[in-house]
Amino acid sequence: MSHHYIQFSNVCYAYPNGVEALHDVSFRISHGEKVALLGPNGAGKSTLILHTNGLLLPTSGEVNVGDIPVEKKTLPLIRQSVGLVFQNSDDQLFMPTVEEDVAFGPLNMKLPEREVEHRIDMALKAVGCQDLRKRAPSQLSGGQRRRVSIATVLSMEPSVLVLDEPSSNLDWKSREDLIRIISSFTHTCLIASHDVDLVKRVCQRSIVLKDGRIIADRPTDEIFTDQDLMRELGLIS
Ligand SMILES: Nc1ncnc2c1ncn2[C@@H]1O[C@H](COP(=O)(O)OP(=O)(O)OP(=O)(O)O)[C@@H](O)[C@H]1O
Ligand SMILES: [Mg+2]
Repeated sequence: MSHHYIQFSNVCYAYPNGVEALHDVSFRISHGEKVALLGPNGAGKSTLILHTNGLLLPTSGEVNVGDIPVEKKTLPLIRQSVGLVFQNSDDQLFMPTVEEDVAFGPLNMKLPEREVEHRIDMALKAVGCQDLRKRAPSQLSGGQRRRVSIATVLSMEPSVLVLDEPSSNLDWKSREDLIRIISSFTHTCLIASHDVDLVKRVCQRSIVLKDGRIIADRPTDEIFTDQDLMRELGLIS
C-alpha cells in the first residue's frame, strides 16, 4: 500500500453559496514528485489543496491518496499521510505553546511519549525553531508562525506534504530556509505559490489553474518560457 501519490479524478467542487471553484480537475502526482500549483488569485488553488486531505470533499469526482479514497470514513488515515500547511498560519496554531502545537498530531496518533518527544525535537530542529519551544504561538512573528506551522506537520512524518503559499511574508533568510526544508523532504510535495523563484528552484512540474480548471500541466521550465501562458496568468504584460 502506497500513500505517497495523489490522484484527482474529474473533481468538481461548488461552495455552499454556489461558487463553482473547481471544474473537472484531474491529475496524478507520483511518489517523490514536487509539483507547483500556479494560477491567479481566485483560481481555485486553496480549494484544490483543501481536497488533498479531505477538509473539503468533492461535489463530484474522486480524490485518492495512494490506494485510499478520500472520504469521511478514511479521514483519520488520510490526515496521517497528508500534512497540510495552510495559507494562513493562524488557522494552524491553536495551542497555548509551540511544543503543544507540534505535539498535537503525534499525540493524536497515540504515539508513545518518548516518540512524541523525539518528533517535537526533530520537527522544531528542521525549521530552526528549537528556541521557540515554550513560547505562545500567538506572540510570534508571522515568519516564526509559518515555520512553527510547518513543524506541526513535519512532526507527523507525512508521506505527502502540501503547502499553500508557504513563502508569503518570509524574509530572505527564512525563505531560503524554507526552500531547504522543502528540498530535503524526500516524499511527495504539492505547493501552491505565486513565488516564481521558489517554484523554479523546487518544483520540476507545475499545474496551472484558471477559473477552477487546469489549463496547463507541464515541466516548470516549459511553463515559464511559454509567453502566451505567462501573459494569461498576468505574470508578464
Ligand atoms: N469559503 C468560501 N465560500 C465561498 N466561495 C469561496 C470560499 N473560499 C473561496 N471561495 C471562492 O472560490 C474561488 C477559488 O478560491 P481559492 O481560495 O481556492 O483561490 P486561490 O487560487 O487560492 O486564490 P489566492 O491566490 O488568492 O489564494 C474564488 O472564486 C473564491 O471567491
Ligand atoms: Mg489561496
